[in-house]
Amino acid sequence: MTYRKSWAEPWKIKMVEHLTMTSREDRIKAIEEAGYNTFLLRSEDVYIDLLTDSGTNAMSDRQWSGMMMGDEAYAGSRNFYNLEKAIQDFYSYKYIIPTHQGRAAEHMMSQILIKDGDYVPGNMYFTTTRLHQELAGGKFVDVIIDEAHDTESLHPFKGDVDLNKLQKLIDEVGADKIPYICIATAVNMAGGQPISLKNIKELREFTTKHGIEIVHDMTRVAENAWLIKEREPGYADKSVAEIVFEICSLTDHATMSAKKDPIVNIGGFMATNDEDVYRKAQNMVVVYEGLHTYGGMAGRDMEALAVGIEESVQDDHMRARVGQTKYLGEKLLGYGIPIVNPIGSHGVFLDAKKFLPHLSQDVFPAQTLAAEIYIESGVRAMERGMVSAGRNKETGDHNRPKLELVRLTIPRRVYTQAHMDVVAESIADVYERRNEIKGLEFSYEPEYLRFFQARFKPLAD
Ligand code: F0G
Repeated sequence: MTYRKSWAEPWKIKMVEHLTMTSREDRIKAIEEAGYNTFLLRSEDVYIDLLTDSGTNAMSDRQWSGMMMGDEAYAGSRNFYNLEKAIQDFYSYKYIIPTHQGRAAEHMMSQILIKDGDYVPGNMYFTTTRLHQELAGGKFVDVIIDEAHDTESLHPFKGDVDLNKLQKLIDEVGADKIPYICIATAVNMAGGQPISLKNIKELREFTTKHGIEIVHDMTRVAENAWLIKEREPGYADKSVAEIVFEICSLTDHATMSAKKDPIVNIGGFMATNDEDVYRKAQNMVVVYEGLHTYGGMAGRDMEALAVGIEESVQDDHMRARVGQTKYLGEKLLGYGIPIVNPIGSHGVFLDAKKFLPHLSQDVFPAQTLAAEIYIESGVRAMERGMVSAGRNKETGDHNRPKLELVRLTIPRRVYTQAHMDVVAESIADVYERRNEIKGLEFSYEPEYLRFFQARFKPLAD
């Protein structure tokens, strides 16, 4: 007899929050009112909320007690120095600028480093990251390995950069038009897929040779580190903390949405080893966020973040975090449901093209599937397909990503294994009736980051 190696959580529950139970009729009404966009549902109408792992995490008693130690001084708050020290100690970066969340850091980084007409390669796009690059006059170029766009490829490091693609870009536009390459760890849009340390080291050597810098979107760096520990030869005996430090040390600058890895509800920062970039960011942060020693965060939030950074790099925490995601993914695979493989770190991604093969991408299969899952059970998921990809700036047509996915994103330390069972069972119910499902069309389309606020209606029969 073989036993499953369990990933049980290294914590117990001290306080609970009640969930609302709704009927199918309630949910049909709610999703209609939300224009078939799960972002527009009221949280009160949701049973299990897998919209995002961003800011939806449960803080520890240590973090909450840190909140009570908030030093709400306008300038020079004690908590800022604690945060600065945590970032230096765990992530290696020298200079830090706190921000209210990740996209504010992306805004400053893009404005400081990108000139009009520049090219910014990356290991797949992220919505806000690419938009800030474009608003700064840059053009994003995808240089992730081809396997990342194939939901069935079992490549262990689908977040890797293809150096041949980067070389090709240099040959076409010249290295002086490429200020930096942005590498995300645990690549969100690819399904939470890791980049290997081998690839980052090769990239470091390659970029240094060409005078190109590396910006690290470190939003889920500790999750990436766990997957390196599990999958990359030579790292099994290293701790998550050691791997995180090594990844960061190989990059020049970083942006962080602290609402993910470091288990807080709000916050972010920009970090750099370059004093000149730091000075420029200090100038910008006072315009857009606040003084450079709080930049959009309260003192108490910076304290909770400093504690959360330390908790996020603990091996036991990560084993349970990524273990829970794997648990859900394996349950879904057991029902024969098409998901992105290998299972990533922060969520399970349903392959909507394979789930609903009778729907063309033009009728938004992933958006449709997310709405159907909500109607079935009150589980809230998110579209990560053509709606998220937006329109091409030049042609005005939809960007048509190969990946048309629904993301079931797992908040940290919030839901139990039984919740994961309910999620898997209800998606299996939708899978049973998949042939009856029809598509959607836009009834309202916003200009920027359309997936957040777009409204849809069911296609006429
Ligand atoms: N980079 C990555 C990889 C992200 O996943 C996010 C946010 C950001 C940057 C932007 O950070 O939201 O703090 O401004 N991702 C959220 C998500 C929204 O649901 O995946 P932010």
